[in-house]
Amino acid sequence: MSEASAARAAALATRAPSTTAEFARQIVSAAERFGSNETDRMRAAIADPIRRLVERDDLLEAALPRPGNNVAESYYLYFDGELSIILFKVPTERPVQPHDHGVWEILFVYRGALEHTVYERVDDGSVAGRAVLRDHQCATLHPGDCAVVAPPRDIHGFRALTDGTWGITVSRGLYKPERLYFDVAAQTCATRRPRTLR
Ligand SMILES: [Fe+2]
Repeated sequence: MSEASAARAAALATRAPSTTAEFARQIVSAAERFGSNETDRMRAAIADPIRRLVERDDLLEAALPRPGNNVAESYYLYFDGELSIILFKVPTERPVQPHDHGVWEILFVYRGALEHTVYERVDDGSVAGRAVLRDHQCATLHPGDCAVVAPPRDIHGFRALTDGTWGITVSRGLYKPERLYFDVAAQTCATRRPRTLR
């Protein structure tokens, strides 16, 4: 193969929709380069892999049902014992209540649109049941747009802006066995055990 045709083949390969396994490798590689303190660089590094995955219309066909923690319809797209890639339908009847994770999570939109907020907790946690959150990053996300939710700002809440909104999350490791769910206006929080840790 000539140099020019090798370059053309490489360019075509980078534009092709990706497999979930290839996508998982790209996420792990970005996570290893950029820690949770470098969320902007992480987002830049994963923008193209996300765009290529979202091009696929067949993701639900290969998905396996999963017990959702915050939503009724949740599916595994990929799981290797450490990294989980989950496709879920975002409910339209109510927002997903702000909650923490204990590990980083990448969230992006597959279909539809959602309003997404990353919060920062600003109280010291010394009063049981009380929590004061401040908006850190609020955005309207469309297909391919992503947010990185990472400690110490591993709290987010979101709501669908249209019917038929689907999101994808990627997380590495186990969620906390006890998670906090926040009422931002009332400045309170309550502990819940997730149905699944991954
Ligand atoms: Fe979450």
